[in-house]
Amino acid sequence: MKSILSLSSVLLVLELCSGEWCYQSQVSCNDTCRGPSEWKNLFPNCGGQRQSPINIVTSRVKHDPKLTRFIFEGHEKVFSMSVENHGHSAHFTLPQSVRLRGGGLPATYKAVQFHLHWGENGSQGSEHSVDGERYPMELHIVHIKEKYGSLGEALNDSRGVAALAFFFEVTSGENEHLDRVIQALGRVRYEGNSSEIEDFRLTDIIPRASKLNYYRYSGSLTTPGCDQAVVWTVFQQTLPISENQLMSVDKQLLFGTEKPMTGIFRPVQNLNGRVVYTSMPAHSLCVLPNLITLFLSLFCVFGQQRCFH
Ligand SMILES: *[C@@H]1O[C@H](CO)[C@@H](O)[C@H](O)[C@H]1NC(C)=O
Ligand SMILES: *[C@@H]1O[C@H](CO)[C@@H](O)[C@H](O)[C@H]1NC(C)=O
Ligand SMILES: *[C@@H]1O[C@H](CO)[C@@H](O)[C@H](O)[C@H]1NC(C)=O
Ligand SMILES: *[C@@H]1O[C@H](CO)[C@@H](O)[C@H](O)[C@H]1NC(C)=O
Ligand SMILES: [Zn+2]
Repeated sequence: MKSILSLSSVLLVLELCSGEWCYQSQVSCNDTCRGPSEWKNLFPNCGGQRQSPINIVTSRVKHDPKLTRFIFEGHEKVFSMSVENHGHSAHFTLPQSVRLRGGGLPATYKAVQFHLHWGENGSQGSEHSVDGERYPMELHIVHIKEKYGSLGEALNDSRGVAALAFFFEVTSGENEHLDRVIQALGRVRYEGNSSEIEDFRLTDIIPRASKLNYYRYSGSLTTPGCDQAVVWTVFQQTLPISENQLMSVDKQLLFGTEKPMTGIFRPVQNLNGRVVYTSMPAHSLCVLPNLITLFLSLFCVFGQQRCFH
């Protein structure tokens, strides 16, 4: 009796552990997959202290003067790229000629791929949030340090991966440059399907580096194994997308289970004492120590007083 009980509990444990990881949107009575709160049981890193995504509290971010502007290389070059449905998302493969330096990074990084995170029927689908507010979609561009041959190798280094994140914001007009990306998603409906986009360049969808302000923190991959190897950059400037475009993004793909691929985001994780830095000086006019700005800061003070009276 005792041995039968323990055998059945072993079988139960085996059954519980055999599920694959999935997003919360995929969890149902029929599906034994492991949602985000259980990822740590299958992948210990997912329960770590430096996990992503996070909520960025703007009143607590610290200015870091080392966060200089980025240098994007190869963003203006035309290339063809493949897109593949990986069962939890679709990856657009980038050529190694696309590079990233500056921006307070410890090395030059080369691009690997980009992908999107979205919600359902146009609702919030970003992974990061700012002051608790989420956006409808988020773009991630994944880079690894130049010296590494693969993402796997880079994950062994606490700063081996540099990920750039852009939020999308709904605008009234269409963002024509996104159409080819959205159409390509329509050609990779099933897991394992792949397709090509010819004559693409990143400047079509990404702004130029020179004026971009951003947040910076140390974190992880937002999918299992959740390796804590990522220098995260979250840009303040958003990318435009129309309501119609957004609706067609989340209707095109299917998960490996052939259910609609929606709600592909991980919930925000605890900061655990991490500091989020920003490239943008706070109130720079009122703190720079020279006469002109002293004059300006007096003006700021009196200007404010006048407003309060
Ligand atoms: C669960 O499976 C049953 C029978 O196959 C099906 O009728 C039902 O719609 C499924 N429920 C969900 C939430 O997928
Ligand atoms: C999707 O959103 C649109 C516009 O917000 C709404 O009219 C429609 O009913 C929604 N569809 C579903 C299935 O929720
Ligand atoms: C990870 O780093 C360790 C120690 O530096 C090294 O022995 C190991 O081969 C590395 N693993 C990979 C996959 O690069
Ligand atoms: C996409 O994948 C499905 C399911 O594996 C397969 O039947 C179909 O032929 C694939 N389509 C293309 C264009 O590769
Ligand atoms: Zn991502």
